[in-house]
Amino acid sequence: MTRYAHVTGWGSALPEHVMTNKDLEQMVDTSDEWIVSRTGIRERRIASPDQTTASLAADAASRALKTAGVHPTEVDLIIVATSSPEHIFPATACIVQDMLGATKAGAFDLSAACTGFIFALNMAAQAIRTGSIDTALVIGAETLSRIVNWQDRNTCILFGDGAGAFVLQGSNEPGGVLEAVMHADGSGADVLMLPAGGSKIPTSPDTVAHGLHYLYMEGRPVFRFATRVMAEAAREVVEKAGLSLEDIQWIIPHQANIRILEVAARHLKLPMERFVVNLDRYGNTSTASIPIATTEAAAQGKLHPGDKVVLVGFGGGLTYGAALVEWTGPFPGHPEVNPERYRLWARVRSAGLRLRRKVLAAAGREQRLGG
Ligand code: COA
Repeated sequence: MTRYAHVTGWGSALPEHVMTNKDLEQMVDTSDEWIVSRTGIRERRIASPDQTTASLAADAASRALKTAGVHPTEVDLIIVATSSPEHIFPATACIVQDMLGATKAGAFDLSAACTGFIFALNMAAQAIRTGSIDTALVIGAETLSRIVNWQDRNTCILFGDGAGAFVLQGSNEPGGVLEAVMHADGSGADVLMLPAGGSKIPTSPDTVAHGLHYLYMEGRPVFRFATRVMAEAAREVVEKAGLSLEDIQWIIPHQANIRILEVAARHLKLPMERFVVNLDRYGNTSTASIPIATTEAAAQGKLHPGDKVVLVGFGGGLTYGAALVEWTGPFPGHPEVNPERYRLWARVRSAGLRLRRKVLAAAGREQRLGG
C-alpha cells in the first residue's frame, strides 16, 4: 500500500518586539529608504532575552500540533532546521522534544541554512512514505539576532527571529508532500557563513576580537545565486511531479529579498500575486521563513485542500531546494488536544528525570567511595 505524508498542522511563533528600519537608522549608517528599496523589508521581530531558538520552536510546534489534533506523545520524529542552534550539540530538537513532552520521538537538527526547512520536510516525508514512522514535526527556528553583528549594515538590516512548524502524518490517501528536490554547491561555502565557533576555528579571544563569531555574508554573489536557483528549483520540482506551473496555486518562497522574488517570478513567468510574501514585516528569518509564511497564508484562508503549493528556498552552503505539496489540512475527526497545557506536565516530567539522574549519580559516588 502506498503511503503519503500529509501536512495536517502548522503554526508559527514570532517575538513581540518589532525592530523597524527607523530603529536601525539609530544603530548603523543606513536609511529606511535604502532598506526598503534594496530589500523590501520594513521591520523584523527580535527575540526577548528569555526567548531562545528552542522556545520559539516549541511554541510554533505546540500550535502546529493543536491545529492537527495530534498529541505530543504521538510524535515519532522531530527535525529542527536551524542555523542558530542553542548549542553545537546537543541538538536543539532534543531540547524541543523535552519541552513538548514528545516522549516517543527521535529528534535531530538539520543544518542547511535557509534551505533547511525544505530538506527537513523531505526527510520527514520520506520516513513516513517508507512506513518507518507515522507522525513527524518539522520545525524551522532561528534567533539570528544573537549571531548578527549589529554594527554591520551589510547584514544586520536583513535578518529577524521566529519559528514555524508543520505536522506531517501518514495516510493511504494520495496527497501531501508529492515531490522534492535538494541541491548544494559547497564551492560557495565562504560567501555566507559563521566563521568561528566550530572545530575549524574554535572560539578564542582572537576570534571574538576579529568578530568571527558573527554571521558573515557577501551580498552580491548570494544575490546572483539566489536569482538563478529559485526559478530553477521551482521548475524542477514541478516537472519531477509530472505537472506544469499552471497547476500550481501558490509559490511560498524563502523570504530573503523582494527583488530576488521578483526576478524568480519573471523567470517563471508568474505574477507576484501567486507568491506568498511577508518579508516586509519579518525580514529574513532564514529557515523559519517558509513555515511562517505558510502559516500566515493558511490563517488568511489562501490555502485550500487540493491546492498545489511549491515551497522553494536557497541559502548558505550554498544550498537550494523545493518541495511540491498538495495541501490537505487537519485529518477529519481528529481529537481536540492542548499541547500548550501539556508542556506544564512535560516540565514536571523533565525535572523528575533530572532529579533521578542526580540521585543515581550521588548514589553511584557513595557506592564507589564505600567500595
Ligand atoms: N544602508 C545603506 N547603504 C548600504 C547598506 C545599508 N544597510 N548596506 C550596504 N550599503 C551600501 C554598500 O556599502 C555599497 O556602497 P558603495 O557602493 O559605496 O560600496 C552600496 O550600498 C551598494 O551595495 P551592494 O552590496 O551593491 O547593494 P545591493 O544592491 O547588492 O544590496 C543586499 C545589498 C545585501 C541587499 C543584496 O546584495 C542582497 O539582498 N543579497 C542577498 C542577501 C541574502 O538574501 N542573504 C541571505 C541568503 S539566505
